[in-house]
Amino acid sequence: MENKVKKIGVLTSGGDSPGMNAAIRAVVRTALSYGIEVVGIKRGYAGLLEEDMEPMNTISVSDIIHIGGTILYTARCLEFKEPEYQKKAADICKKNNIDGMVVVGGDGSFRGGMRLSEQGINTICVPGTIDLDIACTEYTIGFDTAINTAMEAIDKLRDTSESHERCSIVEVMGRSAGHIAQWTGIASGAEYILTTEEFDGDVTKIIDKILVRRAIGKKNHIIVNAEGVGNSMEMAAEIQKATGIETRATILGHIQRGGNPTCKDRVYASAMGALAVELLREGKTNRVVAYKHGEFVDFDIQEALSMEKGLTPYLSHITKRLTSSSYRMD
Ligand code: ADP
Ligand code: F6P
Repeated sequence: MENKVKKIGVLTSGGDSPGMNAAIRAVVRTALSYGIEVVGIKRGYAGLLEEDMEPMNTISVSDIIHIGGTILYTARCLEFKEPEYQKKAADICKKNNIDGMVVVGGDGSFRGGMRLSEQGINTICVPGTIDLDIACTEYTIGFDTAINTAMEAIDKLRDTSESHERCSIVEVMGRSAGHIAQWTGIASGAEYILTTEEFDGDVTKIIDKILVRRAIGKKNHIIVNAEGVGNSMEMAAEIQKATGIETRATILGHIQRGGNPTCKDRVYASAMGALAVELLREGKTNRVVAYKHGEFVDFDIQEALSMEKGLTPYLSHITKRLTSSSYRMD
């Protein structure tokens, strides 16, 4: 098959996620293998508007597959939401003979990719976010590493919480989605998992159950709280005051976005980056790469953005059985 593109750009945008480097590497190596030139664009759409880019060769992506972050840097660029800057970006691509673009980022970055596509630059987006909040895909780059990082941190907190017979509230990332909380909560055996999707905000119910569990011999209490719910410090103070149990809040924060990507993140990110190039070769544009029902597939960006994603229903179901949220009070 003849390449429908001759030179592609690749950029990372929005919050970084472990595995983005594996995706960049796959884009570069796959493109070069087909004789397509590649330029790396720095700092997402911000760097594109500044024409901050450089040619990439096979050595540019050596020794990066195991490293977190993104060698291309990332940024949030509000200007890019304006049509005049979207046109400027497309003009810069045309001036540099870039006729295809791979954007690795979250749903905000996809909106930018859609605009670039409308401006005549064939654009394929790859889901790179630790939040797993992209509806068309069951996997996003970095989620697996982030949940393992958070799980290990919670295991450590449990040790000290147990020694001091305390209650620990652990706040995990996930802007407005509770997937990280759901997964890490289940994996670390948390007694409560609070997400914006499911928590009704009633801390008194948690307090009542902590008191019941303490009375039957439970020595520590782990509450995993999603960033979207927030208020972890206030919640800790409220629980301590009402129960008399020392309560500490820990906000894991950006540590969840770093670190060496897991095997899964390296492999899936590689598959997604390579598929983005295959789609550009076929002359496709305005598509999002996804993982669905065991296969790597692609969707129209508009269609992908219009889909809605909630927490996985069966995981929600078992959460009710496995945490204190459904324990009988008697
Ligand atoms: P993420 O991609 O992780 O969701 P953001 O929502 O911050 O992160 O979006 C990243 C970047 O994508 C923004 O800084 C902006 O440059 C671009 N972007 C976001 N929304 C739009 C939009 N509606 N139109 C064009 N570009 C957008
Ligand atoms: O979208 C990824 C994410 O890490 C969210 O979980 C979090 O709310 C946000 O980015 C934090 O963004 P920033 O890097 O701007 O602090």
